[in-house]
Amino acid sequence: MTSTNDIRRSFLDYFGKAGHQIVPSAPLVPQNDPTLMFVNAGMVPFKNVFTGLESRPYSTATSSQKCVRAGGKHNDLDNVGYTARHHTFFEMLGNFSFGDYFKEQAITHAWTLLTKEWGLPADKLTATVYHTDDQAFDLWKKIAGLPEERIIRIPTKDNFWAMGSDGPCGPCSEIFYDHGDHIWGGPPGSPEEDGDRFVEIWNLVFMQFLQEADEIVGDLPRPSIDTGMGLERVAAVLQGVHDNYDTDTFKALIAESGALTSTATTGDTQASHRVIADHLRSAGFLVADGVLPANEGRGYVLRRIMRRAMRHAHLLGAKDPLMHRLVPSLVAEMGGAYPELVRAQPLIEATLLQEETRFRRTLANGLRLLDEATGDMGEGSTLPGETAFKLYDTYGFPYDLTEDALRPQDIAVDRAGFDAAMAEQKAAARAAWKGSGAKASDDVWFDIAEEGATEFTGYSSDIGEGQVIAIVKDGARVDSATAGDTVEVLVNQTPFYAESGGQVGDAGTITGDGVSATVTDTQKHVGKLHGHVATIDSGTLKVGDTVRLAIDRQRRAQIRANHSATHLLHEALRQRLGTHVAQKGSLVSPERLRFDVSHPNSMSPAELSDVETQVNAQVRANTPVTTRLMTPDDAIAMGAMALFGEKYGDEVRVVSMGAEDGGKTYSVELCGGTHVNALGEIGLLKIVGESAVSSGVRRIEALTGEAARGYLQSRDDKLKEAAAALKASPDEVPARVATLVEEKRRLERELAEAKKALALGGGGKAEAAGPETINGVAFVGQVLDGFEAKGLRGAVDDAKTRIGSGVAALVAVNDGRATVAVGVTDDLKDRLNAVDLVKAAVAAVGGQGGGGRPDMAQGGGPDGASAAAALDAVRATLET
Ligand code: SER
Repeated sequence: MTSTNDIRRSFLDYFGKAGHQIVPSAPLVPQNDPTLMFVNAGMVPFKNVFTGLESRPYSTATSSQKCVRAGGKHNDLDNVGYTARHHTFFEMLGNFSFGDYFKEQAITHAWTLLTKEWGLPADKLTATVYHTDDQAFDLWKKIAGLPEERIIRIPTKDNFWAMGSDGPCGPCSEIFYDHGDHIWGGPPGSPEEDGDRFVEIWNLVFMQFLQEADEIVGDLPRPSIDTGMGLERVAAVLQGVHDNYDTDTFKALIAESGALTSTATTGDTQASHRVIADHLRSAGFLVADGVLPANEGRGYVLRRIMRRAMRHAHLLGAKDPLMHRLVPSLVAEMGGAYPELVRAQPLIEATLLQEETRFRRTLANGLRLLDEATGDMGEGSTLPGETAFKLYDTYGFPYDLTEDALRPQDIAVDRAGFDAAMAEQKAAARAAWKGSGAKASDDVWFDIAEEGATEFTGYSSDIGEGQVIAIVKDGARVDSATAGDTVEVLVNQTPFYAESGGQVGDAGTITGDGVSATVTDTQKHVGKLHGHVATIDSGTLKVGDTVRLAIDRQRRAQIRANHSATHLLHEALRQRLGTHVAQKGSLVSPERLRFDVSHPNSMSPAELSDVETQVNAQVRANTPVTTRLMTPDDAIAMGAMALFGEKYGDEVRVVSMGAEDGGKTYSVELCGGTHVNALGEIGLLKIVGESAVSSGVRRIEALTGEAARGYLQSRDDKLKEAAAALKASPDEVPARVATLVEEKRRLERELAEAKKALALGGGGKAEAAGPETINGVAFVGQVLDGFEAKGLRGAVDDAKTRIGSGVAALVAVNDGRATVAVGVTDDLKDRLNAVDLVKAAVAAVGGQGGGGRPDMAQGGGPDGASAAAALDAVRATLET
């Protein structure tokens, strides 16, 4: 038997050898189409290549594309489990020509692969063509030699394929496989075509036209080819089974769910096993591509898929969560072809376990309520919408789960009633909000929020497309904005992070058809809308436009590094200072991080250095950062750091980073922010500030990456400058500076001594001048330029001692100011008062007053140039 993995490989090899570029599957979340929930066909990632908007370095390609058809326009969820060929997740094999080959080559390739490579008997194959496509009809005759009755002209849309109301389209030709007359059904176009005997295995689309609003509006730049073959269907054919669920991959998954629940995989329990196997695949692949369960958007589709499977696990009697235990089988079957599954295995398991644990808390009660509500209802009756809403609202039953649960009893659900109950609840929430005293200016955001939330796609991508759902200018909704306007732009999905949790909002650009805008900030409104604060640079932006959103990548990379560094810093502070350290505030910007924590004292240089060393050791270990989604209670139970008093939603992201030690990861925090993939991206952490914010709260400021390096560089430059000035090497700078400081102190001391000596008259001029005698009293008077005023009294005392009996007057002149000190020896105290003498001197230098004791008085004045006159004033006073 050829395995599904072999078939996939052989398809890609066939087209690879025929010169096609083998392109890996794009992620399930569309990168280039904001109106599409999930990639649902192989050509979706190539849409812009067909229309000529995008060019690639190859003109033919082949892929095995992951597809999900659940939620949105293509929704196969309801049928899964009950048919042979419905799946929420499937793989589409395809070959594509972007203006290279067209119909003839496409049909030749298809026929060769099916009949030569894979050896399918030609008489089991039938082709259809669009009724007017004579060319394709003739080619099937010529290339495959099919008899005319097995080339069926189909006049309906079945043979005219379009991606959606807008996009590339063209007539198509489908290949059907005849499973044999033991199965009921007829060829396409026949009255029995709905039977299961003839199964479409391959669709060749001759892409030629461009559609807008379901109307053909023009030709594609060049005729192109898009083919799609469901891998599961062709595997059934090649493995000689009729039912996709009997192929090897499904058999392995179903056998495992049978073994783990000890139930039969056929009979009454067959549908449950099929649902579980199918939903395991879609849930696993969606989580691997970054979707996590949520209450809105893509996350809610995932939640619906998961819970539907979980109810079936419950039906099978599983006493404990089952789904996560099936993940190893899924990875064993499909991880070879899709390495992202292997990488995400721990996340897939944890997410499934978390969701199932949580859902089980309400599942049994919900089912009991459902039993009671339907107890006396017969086949063909309808469950009231209100009951379905109660199951949704109180027990977490998605609408389609209730439908699925009632399907075996043939009871329908009143959808309109369900929707009405939902609308009523929203109205009540709005009324409660209005009464809560929220700002009137928030009305506009509440209005918009009622229409939905912004889906944030920026955890995994930096660019994306979105549809403009509202434009707000000066607090009011407007339909459009033109060049020069500054507005807030709301889109259905965006990679722009809106400011929250200390992390600043993203900046970047919004561009669309003829319009471009610069986003300077992104703000969050009503908890779920991301408002892009944007100035329109050119053109007109309108509600309904599809736009391309690109964040400033480098800015965000710096923000990510600073945010992850903040988590590491938090833990390092707790380890170094103690667990009393709690976050009191945080700012994560592209330039720096600021982190406020409770701690009573200022941190010592040694503490700061230890913290920095610890963080940088984690950075260098470069371990990956992981994110999980949990209930706040579970997260806190596993030791995640949460902010006291912070209100968390039903679900929180738990970010873990750093080395494992004794089963504990270095840092585990509840956080909605964006983080590096691996700690090495932080590069380096440098603490640049530690200060007090308020009593008991310290603020740490730090830099990471290039900013930290730049900071250290500038420090280094300054050190080198200092070294050059000292004519020393940088290493010698501290010792040289210490020597210089010591030398300066010594010189100052010496200078002071010298000046004092001068004042004491011990030197040169003063000595020569000698004491004068005035009125029988010995007098020493001297002007000392630059002598420190504080040494003046000591100098006067010394002079007094030296003359034994008499008067000493010294005037120090500094910066133009004069300070005067006058001393009178004790024996003369009765006749002369130092205070009187100093007053006379002070007046001469333009000062007022002067004071002290009779034996020692001091004063000063602004007129240093009159210092000599001050001495004369003392002399004059002595003479009287
Ligand atoms: N786009 C076509 C389909 O989905 C063929 O690949 O059927």
